[in-house]
Amino acid sequence: MSAFLVEGGRRLSGAVAVHGAKNSVLPILAATLLSGGRSVIHNCPRLSDVDASLAILEHLGCRTSREGDTVTVDSGPMDRYDVPDALMREMRSSVIFLGAILARTGQASLSRPGGCELGPRPIDLHLAALRAMGARVEERGGDLLCGAGAGLTGCTITLAIASVGATENAMLAACGCGGTTTILNAAREPEILDLQRFLRAMGARVEGAGTSTVVVEGRRPLHDCEHRVMADRIVAATYLAAGAAAGGEVLVTGIDGRQLSTVTAVLREAGCRLHSEGDFISLRRDGVLRGVRPIRTAPYPGFPTDAQPPVMAALCAGEGTTVLVETIFENRFRHASELARMGADIRVEGRVAVVCGVPRLHGAPVEAADLRGGAALLVAALGAEGESRITGLRHIDRGYDRVEEALTALGASVDRVE
Ligand code: UD1
Repeated sequence: MSAFLVEGGRRLSGAVAVHGAKNSVLPILAATLLSGGRSVIHNCPRLSDVDASLAILEHLGCRTSREGDTVTVDSGPMDRYDVPDALMREMRSSVIFLGAILARTGQASLSRPGGCELGPRPIDLHLAALRAMGARVEERGGDLLCGAGAGLTGCTITLAIASVGATENAMLAACGCGGTTTILNAAREPEILDLQRFLRAMGARVEGAGTSTVVVEGRRPLHDCEHRVMADRIVAATYLAAGAAAGGEVLVTGIDGRQLSTVTAVLREAGCRLHSEGDFISLRRDGVLRGVRPIRTAPYPGFPTDAQPPVMAALCAGEGTTVLVETIFENRFRHASELARMGADIRVEGRVAVVCGVPRLHGAPVEAADLRGGAALLVAALGAEGESRITGLRHIDRGYDRVEEALTALGASVDRVE
C-alpha cells in the first residue's frame, strides 16, 4: 500500500503550474467517439480516471496513444457498444459514455456506475434526457440497455437540477439527434464550455455553454480535431489552500482567476493576500488565519463543492469559527473525522460543518476516503506540526497528477512511499 509521508510546518514558496482539468478531459474523451476520426488532446493530465477512460475507449475498439501530455484517440475502429461492469466501476463519470455511445451507434449497454463515496449519486436526469430524445432505456438488475430504434430526435430538455454530468451526457447524445436539442437549466461550469469548444473543433454545432441554455444542432458531419484541455480549477484551489495552510508565498500559474473568485474571496477574508491577473493567481500568508462568514457550496459560479474539503482543511488551524454548508452532495464531510485526528475541532451535523480554529494541527496517520477529502488531508498535513502518513492514495491519484512533485518544488516535504 502506498502512502504520502508529509513533514509539515514548512512554509511554501515558488510557482506551480496547474495541469489539465479532470472534469474537462473525461467528457472530452467520451466525446472522441462521436467523430469516428482522430482526436488529438493536449494538456491531458496523468490521472487514474484518464487511464480508466482510455481503457473504456480501447475496449470499444478505439486506438489510443499518449506522448507526454498529448493523447490521441482514433475512434474509427470502434466496433462495440458495451462497457463492462469492471470498467464502469472504476469511476462514476463513466456514465458520460452513455450519450456518446448511443449517438455514435444507436445503442449502448452499460452497467450503473457504482454508488460513490459522496453519497447516493443518481443518474435519473441523464436517463430522462436520453428518453426525451427517443431512446429506450431498460434497466435489468444493474445493467442499462439503451436503444435508439429509428434514431434519436432533437427536443427540449429541462433538467430538474443543473447537473454537470447530465448536461454533458445530453450534449453528447444531442450530437447524434436529428434536428435541434435545447437543454434548459443546463449546468454552467467552465468544463461544459470546454466540452463545447472540443465539439465545435470536430465540427459540431453547439452554442450556449456557460449559460443555462445549451443548443445543439445534431448530425453534423464531424471530422478529426485537436484541442487543448483547460486548466483544473480545483487543483488550483488546492494549491491555494495549501499555501494558506502552510504559510508562505505561492504563485499558481495557467489558471483563469475569474473561475475561482469565490474561493479566493474566502481565502482573502481568512487573512491571505491574493492577486489575480491574466493566467495566474498569487497567494501570500504571513499571519494567523481567521474564520470566515459561512461558506455555502453551490453550482458554478458559486463556491465549488470540490473546493470545500481543501479549504476546510486550511481553516482548521487559526482563530475563529467557520460554518460550511454542503448543498450538492449528502456525504461530503468524510475528511472531518480524519482532520480531527490531526487535532482539528470540527462538528458535523448533516450537511453543516462547524470548524473552530485551533492554534495548530499535529501530524497523524490518516486515510483518504475520497478524492477531494484526500486533498484536504494533504493540505492539513502541510500546515501541521510533525509527520503525517496519508493512505488511500488511489483516491488522490484520480484527480492530482504527481502532486507530491509539485508540492516538493514549492518547498514542502512530501514523499510517496510503499
Ligand atoms: C460533477 C463533477 C464533480 C463535482 C460535481 C458538482 C465531473 C466528472 N465530476 O459531478 O467533481 O463535484 O459535478 O460540481 O465533472 N443529480 C441527480 N440526478 C442525476 C444527476 C445528478 O439527482 O441524474 C444530483 C446529484 O446527486 C447532486 C447534484 O445533482 O446532488 C449535482 O450533481 P452533478 O452536477 O450531476 O455532479 P456530477 O456530474 O456527478
